[in-house]
Amino acid sequence: MSTTFFTPVQDGIKEVEQLMRAQAGNDHHPDLRAALEHLLSAGGKRVRPTIVFLAGNMFDAPHEKLVTLGAAVEMLHTATLVHDDLIDGSLLRRGIPTLNARWSPAATVLTGDFLFGRAAKLAAEADYLPLMKLFAETLTVIVNGELTQMFAAKGIIERKNYYNRIYAKTASLFEMSALAATMIGTENETVRLSMKVYGYEIGMAFQIMDDVLDFTGEQATVGKPVGSDLLNGLVTLPAIYFAESHPDNNEVKLLAEGGWGNTEKMEQLVKSIQSSKAIGHATDEASEHIDKALDAIKPFHESAEYEALVGLAHYIVERTF
Ligand code: IPE
Ligand code: IPE
Ligand code: MG
Ligand code: MG
Repeated sequence: MSTTFFTPVQDGIKEVEQLMRAQAGNDHHPDLRAALEHLLSAGGKRVRPTIVFLAGNMFDAPHEKLVTLGAAVEMLHTATLVHDDLIDGSLLRRGIPTLNARWSPAATVLTGDFLFGRAAKLAAEADYLPLMKLFAETLTVIVNGELTQMFAAKGIIERKNYYNRIYAKTASLFEMSALAATMIGTENETVRLSMKVYGYEIGMAFQIMDDVLDFTGEQATVGKPVGSDLLNGLVTLPAIYFAESHPDNNEVKLLAEGGWGNTEKMEQLVKSIQSSKAIGHATDEASEHIDKALDAIKPFHESAEYEALVGLAHYIVERTF
């Protein structure tokens, strides 16, 4: 797999990381600095700031603004992960212990809030009101998605529910990253819409692949526990495909009747799904999103950043972590 698209943005990503690190400030509680250091030391793929740079550079957006936006987006992402891991009871992320593995829920929530505050401040520093509105809007979509998933989605085998959920929790931020960076560079609404579509489509593909990796991945590479979605009552696309093609399977029936709490049976179902065609079908569906993303950016094929955006789109379905 070629990841050469990361090369031209490497320096920019370093600047983003420096700016994020600077957000701890000197006048805040020392534990906040420690937490931020802990979170930053773990790295992360930095996919969202990469989108920001590639999209922004394509439309000649000023570099400093892209650094600020990239840091805002990655900070928002980090904050949602801090809260998400607490909600999911996940103890491992990016190969190291999560904040909630070490701290009380209250301290974890507050640290996440601190990060949200910093993310908003960074977004405001791009000094462009429509971008700030988009940023705030996206945060509400993500929170609403997490809440919907928490309260309503346990054991539900339903496509529409699944697509709404993955848009809210993941694709919305990819969409925002691509759109916001483009907005800094150009006022052309057609161009903005194309880049919004690109972000949306790769975002949908990204979460579908994340859900596939929950079945096929290795914990050591993925950096977070795998095989856990179904055991938490979270029915994702591979399980949906499997259920549709095996309606008479005993574990599928049990799941449909609300039996996701039966760990032994769900472990059996995970194994059945792993060795079924459902994995390939879900991966194909992610690839269809990638095709749509590539269609959306075709008009920009003469730009120097075009190939990098194509490379990034392909990486999303080929990644193993
Ligand atoms: C994890 O996002 C949360 C999802 C939306 C699946 P990433 O896979 O981008 O996480 P990092 O930032 O690389 O750790
Ligand atoms: C993470 O969702 C998405 C957000 C933080 C909004 P998941 O719970 O599915 O992702 P992982 O598997 O923990 O990364
Ligand atoms: Mg979650
Ligand atoms: Mg989680």
